[in-house]
Amino acid sequence: RSCLQIAPSLLAADFSRLGDEARAVEAAGADMLHFDVMDNHYVPNLTMGPMVCEAVRRHIRIPIDVHLMVEPVDPLVPLFAKAGADIITFHPEASRHVDRTLALIREHGCKAGLVFNPATPLDWMQHVMDKLDMVLLMSVNPGFGGQRFIEGTMPKLRAARQRIDEHVRHGGRPIRLGVDGGVTLDNIGRIARAGADMLVAGSAVFGAPDAGGGYSEILSRLRT
Ligand code: DX5
Ligand code: ZN
Repeated sequence: RSCLQIAPSLLAADFSRLGDEARAVEAAGADMLHFDVMDNHYVPNLTMGPMVCEAVRRHIRIPIDVHLMVEPVDPLVPLFAKAGADIITFHPEASRHVDRTLALIREHGCKAGLVFNPATPLDWMQHVMDKLDMVLLMSVNPGFGGQRFIEGTMPKLRAARQRIDEHVRHGGRPIRLGVDGGVTLDNIGRIARAGADMLVAGSAVFGAPDAGGGYSEILSRLRT
């Protein structure tokens, strides 16, 4: 299994200072930056578009992981690829043609992934495993930061781990397995042990007095 990556979510950052906030977590050693895109249609909230992504891109070198909570998905793929996204993930039930959307993301030079809401069955990944770079399990209902971790994510995480390990055993490419929502200093250790190799953390990082310190504290919690 590949080593654990932490992706601070800019959703919990100070929106008037996004460049500084992104630089702070990069300097603290963040592996990538999680960029939550909400459209007031697929989810009941509105956040950042490709122009903001492009502006943030100019401040950091680490990969930007764009999480599309939008419907439709396809029209935004070229725009975010152009804005400097490295990874683009979307919710399968928000795309009419999941296989086509995955192909579209890859054609634009980005890594592709699917995001599963708490009630979305893992079966959505079954026939597209070879086209996935990432599987992201939502451990809250998408739309807001700072929500409480939904415990039903734990068995689902172990099941997803098994599916991915099986896929790799049969010669498939590795797929990163992430968890997004309600990750805190208190639960991060057991989420990692259940099989996640990527963790999104919003309020746990940017809710700290300084984002770099918040990030370092997470790292120290994982070592103990
Ligand atoms: C929720 C977003 C998450 C969110 C996580 O819809 O997809 O990425 O930023 O924030 P925390 O870590 O505060 O739950
Ligand atoms: Zn997210």
